[in-house]
Amino acid sequence: MIGVTLDRVSKKFGAAKGVENVDVHIKPGEFFTFLGPSGCGKTTTLRMIAGFYYPSDGRILFGEQNVTNMPPNKRNTGMVFQNYALFPHMTVFENIAFGLQVRKQGKAEIHDKVTRAQKLVHLDGYGQRRIDQLSGGQQQRVALARALVIEPNILLLDEPLSNLDAKLREETRQEIKRLQLELGITTIYVTHDQSEAMSMSDRIMVMKDGVVQQIGAPHEIYNRPVNRFVASFIGESNLWEGTVERLEGGMVDVRLTPDVLLTGLAENASPECKLAVGQKVTLSVRPEAIREAGPTEYGEPNTMAAKVLLSEFTGISVNYIAQAGPLSVKAMFVGQGHRMRNRDEDVWFTVARDSIYFLE
Ligand SMILES: Nc1ncnc2c1ncn2[C@@H]1O[C@H](COP(=O)(O)OP(=O)(O)O)[C@@H](O)[C@H]1O
Ligand SMILES: [Mg+2]
Repeated sequence: MIGVTLDRVSKKFGAAKGVENVDVHIKPGEFFTFLGPSGCGKTTTLRMIAGFYYPSDGRILFGEQNVTNMPPNKRNTGMVFQNYALFPHMTVFENIAFGLQVRKQGKAEIHDKVTRAQKLVHLDGYGQRRIDQLSGGQQQRVALARALVIEPNILLLDEPLSNLDAKLREETRQEIKRLQLELGITTIYVTHDQSEAMSMSDRIMVMKDGVVQQIGAPHEIYNRPVNRFVASFIGESNLWEGTVERLEGGMVDVRLTPDVLLTGLAENASPECKLAVGQKVTLSVRPEAIREAGPTEYGEPNTMAAKVLLSEFTGISVNYIAQAGPLSVKAMFVGQGHRMRNRDEDVWFTVARDSIYFLE
């Protein structure tokens, strides 16, 4: 197993920005994900690791070895693309064997390795099928086998699930995760889908406009986002603006509206947020951190009275959009379909102190 280091790597395309100053160390055996909206530079960064692009600036290391200017075929990486990039007129076997034939391996060895790779992705017995006789999910598994059969040091996956329908996407996601754990291979995964990133990754690098926003474990990114962009891109969040009224004993009182005052913990602040009395701050509160209170609890700390604008039952949860004076509130209650409130009903919410996170 080897790690990958991007040492202040940038890529410019003429005047266009590409990516800027990406600085990260991916550990041996890690499942590491580049996450961000379309155009933020995920593919560009991955292609530099594969050697399909060379950086305009900075260095790329595999372990201790500087590979910055090494051609792709010398790097021993396996790559899976969004559109599979298989040879449609060739069989499953021929597609998987391709990389081994290029490497001039013997017939018996190729047969052994391809058979094993087919087994690994649950395609035993499919060797003689043509690619155009397979479903999308099966095609993606051929692509995965083709990448793995060469026994790469690093597995690179660029949005491998985005052409699959929802059910198959989840199955294949678990399949990729299982393979990665089984093989222990250093894996770099690209996606714009936050739930995919959250569920699969050891760590995630969130990108926007070619610039890294945050690197961390899924729970860190989710619970301690560094800025508004990360807070709203990773899952749903209420982003409320207010003014610090009091700062005492590790507690922060923030005035959101004349009727709503929330108290949070000063330690739950992003590094960019320096709390001080009189200062404007943005609060991030996850919808699932909000609880329903009774009218008698209104006036207690961290409660608010609101009116339901929209309610929906998803099966797993009841989701509300409600209005508390000028404040818009998104709330989510798990498994409470039996007492769902309708439009225009009054509700009372309470926000736990430790679920408030202070942003810039
Ligand atoms: N070959 C290229 N020539 C010019 N601009 C490019 C090229 N590849 C990517 N870009 C630009 O670089 C930025 C990042 O693109 P990309 O890495 O493909 O984003 P993502 O994979 O996150 O959707 C975009 O603005 C894109 O238009
Ligand atoms: Mg891309």
